[in-house]
Amino acid sequence: MAEFIALIPAAGSGSRIGEDMPKQYCLLAGKPMIYHALNTLYRVDRITTICVVLAPEDIWWTRYDWGEFADKIQVINCGGVTRAESVTNGLKTLRAAKHIQDQDWVLVHDAARPGLSIALVERLLDQLVADEVGGLLAVPLADTLKRANDMDRVECTEPREQLWQAQTPQMFRTKLLLEALEKAPENITDDASAIEALGYSPKLVMGDTNNFKVTYPQDLKLAELILQERY
Ligand code: C5P
Repeated sequence: MAEFIALIPAAGSGSRIGEDMPKQYCLLAGKPMIYHALNTLYRVDRITTICVVLAPEDIWWTRYDWGEFADKIQVINCGGVTRAESVTNGLKTLRAAKHIQDQDWVLVHDAARPGLSIALVERLLDQLVADEVGGLLAVPLADTLKRANDMDRVECTEPREQLWQAQTPQMFRTKLLLEALEKAPENITDDASAIEALGYSPKLVMGDTNNFKVTYPQDLKLAELILQERY
Protein backbone atom coordinates (compact mmCIF):
# COMPACT_ATOMS: atom_id res chain seq x y z
CA MET A 1 0.00 0.00 0.00
CA ALA A 2 1.18 3.52 -0.77
CA GLU A 3 2.63 5.37 2.18
CA PHE A 4 2.38 9.05 3.08
CA ILE A 5 5.76 10.77 3.41
CA ALA A 6 6.13 14.39 4.48
CA LEU A 7 9.06 16.39 3.12
CA ILE A 8 9.98 19.75 4.64
CA PRO A 9 12.35 21.83 2.52
CA ALA A 10 14.26 23.90 5.10
CA ALA A 11 17.35 24.98 3.22
CA GLY A 12 16.37 28.58 2.50
CA SER A 13 17.99 31.64 4.00
CA GLY A 14 14.75 33.63 4.44
CA SER A 15 16.51 36.97 4.07
CA ARG A 16 13.25 39.01 3.91
CA ILE A 17 12.61 38.27 7.59
CA GLY A 18 15.63 40.43 8.48
CA GLU A 19 16.97 38.19 11.27
CA ASP A 20 20.57 37.00 11.67
CA MET A 21 19.54 33.36 11.29
CA PRO A 22 17.60 31.44 8.61
CA LYS A 23 13.92 32.13 9.23
CA GLN A 24 13.01 28.49 9.89
CA TYR A 25 15.03 28.79 13.11
CA CYS A 26 13.51 32.06 14.39
CA LEU A 27 11.96 31.36 17.78
CA LEU A 28 8.16 31.16 17.94
CA ALA A 29 6.38 30.12 21.14
CA GLY A 30 9.80 29.22 22.53
CA LYS A 31 10.74 26.81 19.72
CA PRO A 32 12.48 27.19 16.35
CA MET A 33 9.84 27.86 13.66
CA ILE A 34 10.32 24.52 11.90
CA TYR A 35 9.41 22.68 15.12
CA HIS A 36 5.75 23.60 14.79
CA ALA A 37 5.16 22.15 11.29
CA LEU A 38 7.21 19.11 12.25
CA ASN A 39 5.14 18.60 15.40
CA THR A 40 1.87 18.79 13.44
CA LEU A 41 2.99 16.40 10.69
CA TYR A 42 4.39 14.00 13.32
CA ARG A 43 1.02 13.72 15.00
CA VAL A 44 -0.80 12.70 11.81
CA ASP A 45 -0.92 8.92 12.18
CA ARG A 46 -1.05 8.19 8.44
CA ILE A 47 2.29 9.97 7.87
CA THR A 48 5.01 7.39 8.39
CA THR A 49 8.17 9.38 7.58
CA ILE A 50 9.08 13.05 7.76
CA CYS A 51 12.10 14.07 5.73
CA VAL A 52 13.73 17.39 6.63
CA VAL A 53 15.97 18.82 3.90
CA LEU A 54 18.64 21.14 5.30
CA ALA A 55 21.30 23.22 3.61
CA PRO A 56 24.66 21.40 3.44
CA GLU A 57 26.18 24.20 5.54
CA ASP A 58 23.37 24.30 8.14
CA ILE A 59 24.77 25.00 11.61
CA TRP A 60 21.46 25.46 13.44
CA TRP A 61 19.64 22.13 13.37
CA THR A 62 21.98 20.34 15.78
CA ARG A 63 21.60 23.05 18.43
CA TYR A 64 18.19 21.62 19.35
CA ASP A 65 16.97 18.26 20.58
CA TRP A 66 14.63 16.58 18.08
CA GLY A 67 14.44 13.29 19.96
CA GLU A 68 10.65 13.37 20.38
CA PHE A 69 10.30 12.87 16.60
CA ALA A 70 13.00 10.20 16.31
CA ASP A 71 10.78 7.33 15.10
CA LYS A 72 9.57 9.22 12.00
CA ILE A 73 12.24 11.77 11.12
CA GLN A 74 15.01 11.63 8.49
CA VAL A 75 17.32 14.60 8.21
CA ILE A 76 19.25 15.12 4.99
CA ASN A 77 21.74 17.92 4.31
CA CYS A 78 21.13 18.08 0.57
CA GLY A 79 19.37 21.43 0.05
CA GLY A 80 19.91 23.23 -3.24
CA VAL A 81 19.91 26.82 -4.42
CA THR A 82 16.15 26.86 -5.03
CA ARG A 83 13.23 25.32 -3.15
CA ALA A 84 12.52 23.04 -6.13
CA GLU A 85 16.11 21.82 -6.07
CA SER A 86 15.91 21.13 -2.32
CA VAL A 87 12.72 19.08 -2.80
CA THR A 88 14.21 17.21 -5.78
CA ASN A 89 17.43 16.40 -3.92
CA GLY A 90 15.48 15.19 -0.90
CA LEU A 91 13.25 12.92 -2.99
CA LYS A 92 16.21 11.48 -4.91
CA THR A 93 18.07 10.74 -1.68
CA LEU A 94 15.03 9.01 -0.15
CA ARG A 95 14.51 6.99 -3.34
CA ALA A 96 18.17 5.94 -3.56
CA ALA A 97 17.98 4.71 0.06
CA LYS A 98 14.73 2.86 -0.79
CA HIS A 99 12.86 4.84 1.85
CA ILE A 100 10.27 5.89 -0.72
CA GLN A 101 8.51 4.11 -3.60
CA ASP A 102 7.22 5.55 -6.88
CA GLN A 103 3.57 5.35 -5.84
CA ASP A 104 4.00 6.74 -2.32
CA TRP A 105 2.39 10.11 -1.66
CA VAL A 106 4.73 12.99 -0.79
CA LEU A 107 3.40 15.96 1.19
CA VAL A 108 5.79 18.86 0.66
CA HIS A 109 5.41 21.48 3.39
CA ASP A 110 7.30 24.76 3.89
CA ALA A 111 9.19 25.02 7.18
CA ALA A 112 7.99 28.63 7.24
CA ARG A 113 4.29 27.70 7.69
CA PRO A 114 4.09 27.01 11.43
CA GLY A 115 0.29 27.49 11.53
CA LEU A 116 -0.48 24.16 9.87
CA SER A 117 -2.98 22.11 11.88
CA ILE A 118 -3.60 18.36 12.10
CA ALA A 119 -7.17 18.90 10.85
CA LEU A 120 -5.89 20.57 7.66
CA VAL A 121 -3.49 17.72 6.92
CA GLU A 122 -6.23 15.15 7.53
CA ARG A 123 -8.53 17.06 5.15
CA LEU A 124 -5.83 17.08 2.47
CA LEU A 125 -5.23 13.34 2.86
CA ASP A 126 -8.96 12.51 2.83
CA GLN A 127 -9.65 14.56 -0.28
CA LEU A 128 -6.65 13.42 -2.30
CA VAL A 129 -6.03 9.80 -1.37
CA ALA A 130 -8.14 8.57 -4.29
CA ASP A 131 -7.16 11.39 -6.66
CA GLU A 132 -5.44 10.72 -9.97
CA VAL A 133 -3.15 13.75 -9.79
CA GLY A 134 -2.90 15.08 -6.23
CA GLY A 135 -3.26 18.67 -5.10
CA LEU A 136 -2.63 21.32 -2.50
CA LEU A 137 -4.09 23.38 0.31
CA ALA A 138 -5.12 26.84 -0.85
CA VAL A 139 -7.46 29.68 0.13
CA PRO A 140 -9.70 31.76 -2.15
CA LEU A 141 -8.28 35.25 -2.61
CA ALA A 142 -9.83 37.78 -0.20
CA ASP A 143 -8.31 41.04 -1.42
CA THR A 144 -8.86 42.93 -4.65
CA LEU A 145 -5.99 42.27 -7.02
CA LYS A 146 -4.21 45.08 -8.89
CA ARG A 147 -1.78 44.64 -11.75
CA ALA A 148 0.97 47.31 -11.66
CA ASN A 149 2.87 48.98 -14.47
CA ASP A 150 6.59 49.65 -14.09
CA MET A 151 5.84 53.02 -12.43
CA ASP A 152 3.95 51.22 -9.62
CA ARG A 153 0.66 52.60 -10.89
CA VAL A 154 -2.40 50.45 -11.41
CA GLU A 155 -2.63 49.09 -14.92
CA CYS A 156 -5.81 47.17 -14.24
CA THR A 157 -7.86 45.37 -11.61
CA GLU A 158 -7.80 41.61 -12.06
CA PRO A 159 -11.06 39.76 -11.44
CA ARG A 160 -10.53 37.71 -8.30
CA GLU A 161 -13.21 35.08 -8.97
CA GLN A 162 -11.61 31.67 -9.07
CA LEU A 163 -8.25 32.96 -7.82
CA TRP A 164 -6.75 31.02 -4.93
CA GLN A 165 -3.59 31.53 -2.88
CA ALA A 166 -1.48 28.39 -2.84
CA GLN A 167 -0.35 27.01 0.51
CA THR A 168 1.35 23.81 1.54
CA PRO A 169 1.35 20.84 2.04
CA GLN A 170 1.22 20.04 -1.65
CA MET A 171 0.65 16.34 -2.18
CA PHE A 172 1.66 14.27 -5.21
CA ARG A 173 2.87 10.77 -6.00
CA THR A 174 6.68 10.47 -5.80
CA LYS A 175 7.24 9.45 -9.42
CA LEU A 176 5.06 12.18 -10.91
CA LEU A 177 6.51 14.86 -8.63
CA LEU A 178 10.11 13.95 -9.42
CA GLU A 179 9.44 13.87 -13.16
CA ALA A 180 7.67 17.22 -12.92
CA LEU A 181 10.41 18.90 -10.88
CA GLU A 182 13.14 17.62 -13.19
CA LYS A 183 11.39 19.08 -16.24
CA ALA A 184 10.09 22.24 -14.56
CA PRO A 185 10.88 25.77 -15.70
CA GLU A 186 13.52 27.41 -13.48
CA ASN A 187 11.31 30.07 -11.92
CA ILE A 188 8.65 27.89 -10.25
CA THR A 189 7.91 28.66 -6.60
CA ASP A 190 5.84 25.63 -5.65
CA ASP A 191 5.45 21.94 -6.49
CA ALA A 192 2.02 22.26 -8.09
CA SER A 193 3.43 24.59 -10.79
CA ALA A 194 5.77 21.83 -11.88
CA ILE A 195 2.86 19.38 -12.11
CA GLU A 196 0.82 21.97 -14.05
CA ALA A 197 3.69 22.41 -16.53
CA LEU A 198 3.26 18.72 -17.39
CA GLY A 199 -0.38 19.42 -18.31
CA TYR A 200 -2.05 18.14 -15.12
CA SER A 201 -4.59 20.02 -13.03
CA PRO A 202 -3.93 19.62 -9.26
CA LYS A 203 -6.95 19.72 -6.94
CA LEU A 204 -7.43 22.74 -4.67
CA VAL A 205 -8.31 21.73 -1.12
CA MET A 206 -9.62 24.42 1.24
CA GLY A 207 -6.80 25.62 3.52
CA ASP A 208 -6.86 28.16 6.33
CA THR A 209 -5.38 31.66 6.57
CA ASN A 210 -3.59 30.59 9.79
CA ASN A 211 -1.41 28.44 7.54
CA PHE A 212 0.27 31.51 6.03
CA LYS A 213 3.95 31.65 5.11
CA VAL A 214 6.06 33.67 7.53
CA THR A 215 8.01 35.99 5.25
CA TYR A 216 8.32 39.52 6.67
CA PRO A 217 9.34 40.64 10.20
CA GLN A 218 5.75 41.59 11.12
CA ASP A 219 4.58 38.03 10.27
CA LEU A 220 6.46 36.73 13.32
CA LYS A 221 4.05 38.47 15.73
CA LEU A 222 0.97 37.04 14.04
CA ALA A 223 2.45 33.54 13.96
CA GLU A 224 3.31 33.86 17.66
CA LEU A 225 -0.31 34.74 18.50
CA ILE A 226 -1.66 31.80 16.50
CA LEU A 227 0.74 29.40 18.21
CA GLN A 228 0.08 30.79 21.70
CA GLU A 229 -3.56 29.87 21.24
CA ARG A 230 -2.57 26.34 20.32
CA TYR A 231 -0.19 25.50 23.16
O1 C5P B 1 11.89 31.44 0.67
P1 C5P B 1 10.55 30.82 0.82
O2 C5P B 1 9.80 31.34 1.98
O3 C5P B 1 9.73 30.83 -0.43
O4 C5P B 1 10.86 29.27 1.13
C1 C5P B 1 9.83 28.31 1.26
C2 C5P B 1 10.43 27.05 1.87
O5 C5P B 1 11.41 26.50 0.99
C3 C5P B 1 11.14 27.30 3.21
O6 C5P B 1 10.83 26.24 4.09
C4 C5P B 1 12.61 27.31 2.82
O7 C5P B 1 13.49 26.94 3.86
C5 C5P B 1 12.62 26.30 1.68
N1 C5P B 1 13.75 26.49 0.75
C6 C5P B 1 14.67 25.44 0.55
N2 C5P B 1 15.74 25.62 -0.29
C7 C5P B 1 15.95 26.79 -0.91
C8 C5P B 1 15.02 27.87 -0.74
C9 C5P B 1 13.92 27.68 0.11
O8 C5P B 1 14.52 24.38 1.14
N3 C5P B 1 17.02 26.93 -1.70
